[in-house]
Amino acid sequence: MSAGRESGAAETTWAAPLPADTVGLLEGLTTTRAIRRYTDEPVPRQALRAMLFAATRAPSGSNRQPFRFIVLTDGPKAAAAKTLIGQAARRVWSGKRQTDGYDSGSGAQTDSPKARTARAMQQFVDEFERIPVVILPCLVRYRDPTPSEGASVYPACQNLLLAARALGYGGAFTGWNFAVDAELRDLLGVPDDTFVAGTITLGRPAGRHGPVRRRPLAELVYEEEWGGVADWALDPPGTEHTSAGPPRPATPARRGEGPR
Ligand SMILES: Cc1cc2nc3c(=O)[nH]c(=O)nc-3n(C[C@H](O)[C@H](O)[C@H](O)COP(=O)(O)O)c2cc1C
Repeated sequence: MSAGRESGAAETTWAAPLPADTVGLLEGLTTTRAIRRYTDEPVPRQALRAMLFAATRAPSGSNRQPFRFIVLTDGPKAAAAKTLIGQAARRVWSGKRQTDGYDSGSGAQTDSPKARTARAMQQFVDEFERIPVVILPCLVRYRDPTPSEGASVYPACQNLLLAARALGYGGAFTGWNFAVDAELRDLLGVPDDTFVAGTITLGRPAGRHGPVRRRPLAELVYEEEWGGVADWALDPPGTEHTSAGPPRPATPARRGEGPR
C-alpha cells in the first residue's frame, strides 16, 4: 500500500513530524558501524519514511537529486530480488574468503578478529533473504559517467545509514548487487540510463552499535601539503584504532624537513 494513500487516523500519522532521534549528531556519526546481523523484527513504514527523508536531504550536483531508492521488504519482487542478491553475496563472499585467506594464519584461531569477521560475513550472506529491508540506491544519469557522479548518490546512502542509527536501526552498504546487475534491472524494471549504485541492508541490530574504528587521525590528515603533519590532528582520548587498510606510509615528513 502506498503511504500517501492511507486514510483516516493513519493519514494524520503520516503527516506527523519525524520521530525524535536517540543520539546526538556527532555521537551518531562516530558510532555508525556496518551492522550485518539483524533480528527478524520488521522495520515500520514510519521509520523507513524518516530514513528515506533523511537520505533524500543529501547534497547532489546542481541539486539535481538524481538519487532514487528501491525499497525491498516483503513483496514478491522484493523476495525475488533478495534471493538474487543473496545468491550473488554467497558466491562473492566464498571467493573472497578463499583468496583473502580468511581461514589461514590468525583466521585459524576461533577467537581472532579475522575469524570473527569471517563468521559474521558468513552469517550475513547465509541469512541474506531474511534481512528485513534491502534498499537499492540508484543514480539516474543525464550524461556519460563522470568520476564524481557517485558524490550525487553515496552521501544519500550515508545519510540513510546515519538516520537508521538515529532511530535505533542499523545497516550496511554492500556491493553484492553488481554481480547480478542485469538480472536485477530486468526484475525491477530499472531503466538503462540508471545506475544501481549498491545494496543497503537494514534492520534492528542483533548486537550493539559501538565506536567506529579507523586509523589514527594523524595518518589520515595532512596540513598544507601532501604528507604535511597536522599536529592538531589528534584522536579524542580512548579512541580505538584498526590496522585495516593499505600498508602504512613511512612517517610523513614535517613541513620544512627533508627533501622537497
Ligand atoms: C564502497 C563500499 C563497499 C562495501 N562493500 C561491502 C560488501 O560488499 N559487503 C559488506 O559486508 N560490506 C561492505 N562494505 C562495508 C565495509 O566493509 C565497512 O564499512 C568497513 O569495513 C568499515 O566497517 P565499519 O563501517 O563497521 O567501521 C562496503 C563499504 C563501502 C563504503
